[in-house]
Amino acid sequence: MATLVFLLQCLALVLLGSTGQTVFAMPPQAPVQCNATGCTLYNAYGAWGDRQECRVQNVKYPTSEEEIRAAVAEANQKKLKVKVVSGFSHTIPKLACPSTYTQDPTNSMLISTEKYNTSIEIDEDNLQVTADAGVGLRALIDRVEAANLSLVASPYWEGVSVGGVISTGAHGSSWWGKGGAVHDHVVGINLVVPAPPNEGYAKILKIGASDPLFNAAKLSLGLLGVISKVTFSLERAFKRSITNNFTDDGNIQNEFMEHAKKHEFGDITWYPSRHIAVYRNDDRVPLNSSGNGVNDFLGFQSNVVLVSKSVRAVEKALENAKNAGGKCAVAASVVAFKKMVGNGLKNNLIFTGYPVVGHQGKMQTSGSCLYSSSTLTSCAWDPRIKGLFFYETTAIFPASKFGDFIRDVKRLRDIKSENFCGIDSYNGILIRFIKSSEAYLGQSEDSVVIDFNYYRADDPLTPRLNQDVWEEVEQMAFFKYGARPHWAKNRNLAFLGVQEKYPNFDKFMAAKKELDPQNLFSSDWSDEIVLGKQGEKGDGCALEGQCICSEDRHCSPSKGYLCKQGLVYTDARVCRYSP
Ligand SMILES: Cc1cc2nc3c(=O)[nH]c(=O)nc-3n(C[C@H](O)[C@H](O)[C@H](O)COP(=O)(O)OP(=O)(O)OC[C@H]3O[C@@H](n4cnc5c(N)ncnc54)[C@H](O)[C@@H]3O)c2cc1C
Ligand SMILES: *[C@@H]1O[C@H](CO)[C@@H](O)[C@H](O)[C@H]1NC(C)=O
Ligand SMILES: *[C@@H]1O[C@H](CO)[C@@H](O)[C@H](O)[C@H]1NC(C)=O
Ligand SMILES: *[C@@H]1O[C@H](CO)[C@@H](O)[C@H](O)[C@H]1NC(C)=O
Ligand SMILES: *[C@@H]1O[C@H](CO)[C@@H](O)[C@H](O)[C@H]1NC(C)=O
Ligand SMILES: *[C@@H]1O[C@H](CO)[C@@H](O)[C@H](O)[C@H]1NC(C)=O
Repeated sequence: MATLVFLLQCLALVLLGSTGQTVFAMPPQAPVQCNATGCTLYNAYGAWGDRQECRVQNVKYPTSEEEIRAAVAEANQKKLKVKVVSGFSHTIPKLACPSTYTQDPTNSMLISTEKYNTSIEIDEDNLQVTADAGVGLRALIDRVEAANLSLVASPYWEGVSVGGVISTGAHGSSWWGKGGAVHDHVVGINLVVPAPPNEGYAKILKIGASDPLFNAAKLSLGLLGVISKVTFSLERAFKRSITNNFTDDGNIQNEFMEHAKKHEFGDITWYPSRHIAVYRNDDRVPLNSSGNGVNDFLGFQSNVVLVSKSVRAVEKALENAKNAGGKCAVAASVVAFKKMVGNGLKNNLIFTGYPVVGHQGKMQTSGSCLYSSSTLTSCAWDPRIKGLFFYETTAIFPASKFGDFIRDVKRLRDIKSENFCGIDSYNGILIRFIKSSEAYLGQSEDSVVIDFNYYRADDPLTPRLNQDVWEEVEQMAFFKYGARPHWAKNRNLAFLGVQEKYPNFDKFMAAKKELDPQNLFSSDWSDEIVLGKQGEKGDGCALEGQCICSEDRHCSPSKGYLCKQGLVYTDARVCRYSP
């Protein structure tokens, strides 16, 4: 079995590596899909955390700021719940759904910024750019770079809109300058909010950096109104030089701070089952440095559809057979392959060795699977092809607590390291840095973020191999170490008690009350995330992270998964295979 897996995986990766440039693929489907009975809002993975559908009836596609104002005015006049979604919809929790629990779509409105994406204005003298909220990050970056300027921070994934990327606190990695979070590079926002009838039911606020509403508006989860324009600060164009140092993981807990201080854009990828840490030495270099490299991250390249399906099929077979060894073979080949191809970094058309030096705009973010036009290839997770389907846990720690968290995870790993192969066959544990921010819903101190992906079953009631281990790491992060959940990722349980983790949450809510006194921009669905309340605990609720188990029935007794305590963090309650 292991050899078969290895061969398949190599085939997948070889195809993947060699086709990324040349084969065209299908771009992701639009997030709003309509038929005779109405419309449904999907995210990019085709499933929200709770797998409920978000039905909407009234979808607007404004093309100007005035049309946005008119839409908000209509919602206000008719007392409709209203939410905004971008043309990308890459956010995992159901923040953008305006509907009620009863799924009655008639009292709500969805505003899509998909067609509001034309204006990008560069102010060279002030080193700023102002863009319509629906503009994609790639279009923005390309325009900025063409003017010999650079946007300093961005997430690693470019398939996001200007409005969406600042609304959830999306980030790259940096403790330097203004830091790695995109909203901390914002200097102005136009926000369309409800208004009294004598002001036409809606108005456009221009919120500058000195406005008292600024710290609420720059990270607002879509709860305050519709962002119509965003102004970012820029710097003179620069290049970046990246070297990945594949080394052992013995010292991460002592070295992470030094790494963040030493390298402007550094990060660390940790593969616990392999005992490998990859330190990304990522620094700014002058524009006249030689090199025209591109960061085309492997995981965001186009995949041949058949290969994505095969990889999923292998993963499912290993799950059904509870074959941890097979997962370890996959993890080993994936890590070895990534090392060989520099993770998707390309000096020229291919990877020929470190350092890879290229323009900031080509190195800061990627997503080549987004731009394609045949049915042969797609993003690996495209819901239409039944390819990869996974969870993404993202926890944000105060830097001072992060070392102890790593030590705890190592204790858990050392009990049985093969339990960690299931995350290492994705991207291991990605460790990045976010600088402290004034945004009320941002990080109030210098922080360290971890991301890890893991298998999600097709059927919500199917338990997963080693799920107890991920659940323990998850609960350790959020409850033992008080980590904050990334607003755009995670399973519902990560948001339990989230309000208390933000010292300025009350100030944010006060701003909301001022701007949206009738709560038009909140819905049952977003309340569940933002207010961090746990719902009814049904049978099997812990399997998908809808609850923390307290009884066996919250797991899957019929399949041998019972509610047990954690192995290292004994306060954790996890679903463990206990035949
Ligand atoms: C493959 C992948 C990789 C990712 N990598 C990273 C990463 O490296 N770092 C990171 O931090 N995040 C990452 N993310 C998460 C992503 O950056 C966020 O989900 C981001 O918010 C998505 O932007 P969007 O334009 O798709 O927003 P949407 O999903 O459409 O919307 C997000 C939220 O913003 C609100 N919103 C959107 N537009 C507006 C507007 N104009 N006015 C008011 N509210 C608005 C919506 O109501 C919703 O609440 C990744 C996601 C994926 C799928
Ligand atoms: C329309 O789409 C919804 C959601 O996907 C589905 O439940 C419904 O059956 C569809 N109706 C028709 C007539 O196709
Ligand atoms: C706006 O969206 C259209 C259609 O999705 C796209 O072709 C165009 O390039 C986008 N324009 C900008 C500036 O992003
Ligand atoms: C950008 O810099 C290059 C090289 O110095 C120069 O040729 C070009 O004219 C500049 N472009 C703009 C828009 O300033
Ligand atoms: C790689 O990182 C390790 C651990 O920090 C360090 O000891 C080693 O010198 C680094 N190697 C290179 C080539 O930078
Ligand atoms: C880049 O420019 C600086 C001065 O602006 C100069 O000192 C340096 O030698 C140049 N480097 C290269 C590689 O051309």
